[in-house]
Amino acid sequence: MHRSRLIAPGALAASLLLAIPATAADFTPGAPGVGDSYYPDHGNGGYDVSHYDLRLKYQPTTDLLEGTATITATTTQDLSRFNLDFGLKVSEVRVNGKKAAFARSGEQELEITPKSGLPKGSSVTIVVRYAGKPSEVKIHGFTAWQRTPDGGVAAQEPESAAWWFPANDHPRDKATFDVSVAVPDGSQAISNGVLQRQTSRLGWTRFDWRSNKPQAPYLATLAVGKFDITTDKTENGLPVLNAYSKDLGDNAGAARASIERTTEVAEWLEEVFGPYPFNALGGYVPNVPASYALETQTRPFYGPRAFANGSNVSIVVHEIAHQWYGDSVSVENWKDIWINEGFARYSQWLWSEKEGEGTAQELADYAYASRPATDPFWQVKPGDPGPDNQFHAAVYDRGALALQALRNKVGDKTFFKILKGWPTERAHGNASVRDFVSYAEEVSGKPLSGLFDTWLYKAGKPGAPAARGAGVARAAGEKAPAKPKSWKK
Ligand code: ARG
Ligand code: ZN
Repeated sequence: MHRSRLIAPGALAASLLLAIPATAADFTPGAPGVGDSYYPDHGNGGYDVSHYDLRLKYQPTTDLLEGTATITATTTQDLSRFNLDFGLKVSEVRVNGKKAAFARSGEQELEITPKSGLPKGSSVTIVVRYAGKPSEVKIHGFTAWQRTPDGGVAAQEPESAAWWFPANDHPRDKATFDVSVAVPDGSQAISNGVLQRQTSRLGWTRFDWRSNKPQAPYLATLAVGKFDITTDKTENGLPVLNAYSKDLGDNAGAARASIERTTEVAEWLEEVFGPYPFNALGGYVPNVPASYALETQTRPFYGPRAFANGSNVSIVVHEIAHQWYGDSVSVENWKDIWINEGFARYSQWLWSEKEGEGTAQELADYAYASRPATDPFWQVKPGDPGPDNQFHAAVYDRGALALQALRNKVGDKTFFKILKGWPTERAHGNASVRDFVSYAEEVSGKPLSGLFDTWLYKAGKPGAPAARGAGVARAAGEKAPAKPKSWKK
C-alpha cells in the first residue's frame, strides 16, 4: 500500500523530523486471531485492550440491542488496520475521534482501517456504534444469546462477547468493564461487578455496572428480564447481589437455597485459595432452559435446571472456585482448560470432604473405579482435550483425579500450599498447564512430569501399577489411607 494512504501528512512530517524510517511496510494489519490453536479466529492481534465501556439499550419485546462501545487499547505493533470480534450491525466506527473505514470479514470479524496508521505503543480509543438483534446473529452456526419470555442473556464459553459487544475475545486480553444498560421500567439488566447506580427516566431504567479487575471478555455477562434481587455485604464489606428470574417455577426455592450460600462458600474457599480476587460477589438465574452454569466474573450464571432435584451448593462451589481458577488465573490457550475445570471439580470434592459426604480420596476412588478401561472417557486427555472435548467429563473428573494423585504424592501440607500459592502468585494473569506443573515441582521439590503425563497427557485408563504409583487407586484388599488432614492448616 502507498504510504500516503497509511500516514496522514502531519504524521509523515513528524516521522521525517525524527528521522524514523517509517515506511508503509512497517504498518501492517493486526492478525485476525490471537493465535489460539483450538480457535484460530478468536481474539485478534496488534493491540491490547485496557477497558470496555458499553452504553446500551435493550428492548425485550423486539430483541433490539443498540448502543455504543468505547474501547481503550494500546497498540502492540505498527498497525495499518485491526479487527474486533463482533456479529451485530455496525453504523459507525471512530478511532481516536476520527471516522474509520470498516468492513465485515467472515461471521465474526469486524475489520477497522483508521485514517492513518497507528504506531506501536500508542493509546487508541475506538468507538463502535451498533444495533441489532443478538438472537439472529449466527457465528459458526451458533447463537450465544438466549432470548427469554421477558428478555435475554449472554453467558457462554469459550466465547459470548461477539453477540453483544465488539471485543478482543480471548482470555489472553483481559480488561476492566463498565456496562451501562437501559431497559424498560420494571425490567432489570444484570451484569458483572458492582451496581454503581440505577436511574429511571422516560420509561427506561438504566443499570450501571462496574467490574474493576481484569476480566476476560467471555466472562462478561448481560441478562435482561424481571428478577427478584437480594443484596448484602460480606463481613469485610464486599457487596453481594443475587438475581433470580421471577419465572423459575418449581426451581425457585432450591435456586435461592443454593445461591444465597455464596458468601459462606467464598469464605471457605478463601481458606483454601487465599483472598477472593474481585470487588463483588453473587450469582444470577435467568429463565432459560439450561442446566449448566458458567463462572461469569463476580456473578456466575446458573441454569435453573441445575436446581431441578433440590438445592445444589456443589455447583455454587464449582463456580465460585472458578473465580480464582479460571477468572483470576486464566488459560493462556483454550487447550489449558484443565487449569480451570480440574480445580473447580476438585473444589467440589473438598466441599464434600468438609461436609462429611465423602472425602476427596473416596470420590477419586469412586470416579476411578466407576469407569472401566473400555470407557471412551479414558481416551480424552485433560491436558489437551481438543476443541470438541473441551468440556468433556474427563477434563473435570480425570482432571480432578490428577489433583488427588498430586495430593497423595506431595502430601497435604504441600498440596494445600500449592492450591493457595498458585492463584495468589498468578492473580489476574494467564497460565498454561505446563506452568502449573513447573509451579508444583518448584513448591514440592519433586519431579512431577511422570505423574502429570499419566493423568493429563496419556490416552487410556492409567493402569493399576501406574495408578498406585501415582497414588490414586489402590489394589483390591489394600487398606485405605487414613482420612486426610484438614486443608485448613
Ligand atoms: N465453565 C463452565 C463450568 O462451570 C462450563 C460451561 C460449558 N458450556 C455449556 N454451554 N455447557 O463448568
Ligand atoms: Zn467449570
